[in-house]
Amino acid sequence: MQIKIPELSLVLLVGVSSSGKSTFARKHFQETEILSSDYCRAMIIDDEADQSVTKEAFEILHFIAAKRLAVGKLTVIDATNIQAKARSSLLYLARKYHIATVAIVFNLPKDLCKIRSQQRVNRDLDSAIVHQQYDNLQRSLRNLKHEGLKQIIVLNTVTEVNDSEIKLIPLSCNMRHEAGPFDIIGDIHGCFDELIILLEQLGYQIQFSNSKYTISHPQGRRVIFLGDLVDRGPKIPQVLQLVIDMVVAGNAFCIKGNHDVKLVRKLMGHNVKLVHGLEESINQLQKTSIDFHNKIIEFINNLPEHYLFDAGKLVVAHAGLPEELQGRDAGKVYEFALYGKVIGREKSGFPIRYNWANDYNGSAMVVYGHTPIIDSKWVNNTICIDTGCVFGGKLTALRYPEKDLVSITAKDTYYDSVKSFIKHDS
Ligand code: CTP
Ligand code: MG
Repeated sequence: MQIKIPELSLVLLVGVSSSGKSTFARKHFQETEILSSDYCRAMIIDDEADQSVTKEAFEILHFIAAKRLAVGKLTVIDATNIQAKARSSLLYLARKYHIATVAIVFNLPKDLCKIRSQQRVNRDLDSAIVHQQYDNLQRSLRNLKHEGLKQIIVLNTVTEVNDSEIKLIPLSCNMRHEAGPFDIIGDIHGCFDELIILLEQLGYQIQFSNSKYTISHPQGRRVIFLGDLVDRGPKIPQVLQLVIDMVVAGNAFCIKGNHDVKLVRKLMGHNVKLVHGLEESINQLQKTSIDFHNKIIEFINNLPEHYLFDAGKLVVAHAGLPEELQGRDAGKVYEFALYGKVIGREKSGFPIRYNWANDYNGSAMVVYGHTPIIDSKWVNNTICIDTGCVFGGKLTALRYPEKDLVSITAKDTYYDSVKSFIKHDS
């Protein structure tokens, strides 16, 4: 059986003593990925089995687990983990560091574990303890699904345990192996004409035939679209078509923007208010086919909410992303990457956003859009390149790694800004 788990996760091995947790851990994970309560006991008192230092052993285990999760390393907890209380403190750590949790449960026959236990030197557990552990395990099997774990794998036989294989699945944001060079383009909002001029200025060769765009760069550069392809602007279907064609051909990457997600919800039949320029998208898309709508739905739904490129040196997210959320996969990451963090409302109802860039001191460069500004400027290794093209501003690209900015002035003011976006710059 192949057990697929996220490459970055906290794995809890769950099972009574002698069910084979440590053997399994050694077989499938690197030594440094495994945090064993027994080993922590030995570090304190030179004896793995000495229960008198259990409390101290778990203090060490939690301490190291927190350090590993903070830097984003796969961590395997080799302890019985059969009590909800023992698991909850570990699950708390995983939540704190926005890391997925996996339980691998060893639900093997009691007699087998008893025999194995008797054969072990220094580990022949009292049978009353084994019984109690079994009760705890059965309770765990009933309750685990309510504990917020991302995945629960139950191995019921020795054969299942022996035949297991672990496959680490890369997170959808992980493009660390792609080093560029890139041209990162901010919020387009249907400004197709400006997009074409910008791509040409960046050196891309553009062809359109058989209803398909073929766009590539002679030097192999690729585009990263920062989301918000749609709403408000004049040529929304064309922008979608171009971006989809480029991404499918492998000449571009794209991340989700809040407007893209809302449009897809509308296309999928959800009750969504036609405000903030969504009406323009719907009106324009009414003239296109259902097949195209389905293509848009599939495309947007499969986009990640952020990407890490170039060994993690470049991070892109529609609304930006603080360091602690980069390279993580959790609801909080999605919320921040798409919407930013709203910390209050002005009297007009306009959101007041947490200015995360002012506090940023991460080593990765973060390129984002979402909040239109007049001119892009660097703030602590972050840059917003939404220069409000649809509001009559500019469409901007950042060249990576060169850090050059290239902008095209909007041909028109396509949509009146509710609030002059000049103010966002201050
Ligand atoms: N064992 C085995 N076959 C397996 C797995 C384990 O015969 N497929 C044996 C091991 O050689 C060991 C004993 O069962 O002697 C217990 O295995 P271990 O992996 O140490 O069990 P744990 O679940 O880690 O036990 P504990 O909770 O006591 O650490
Ligand atoms: Mg063990």
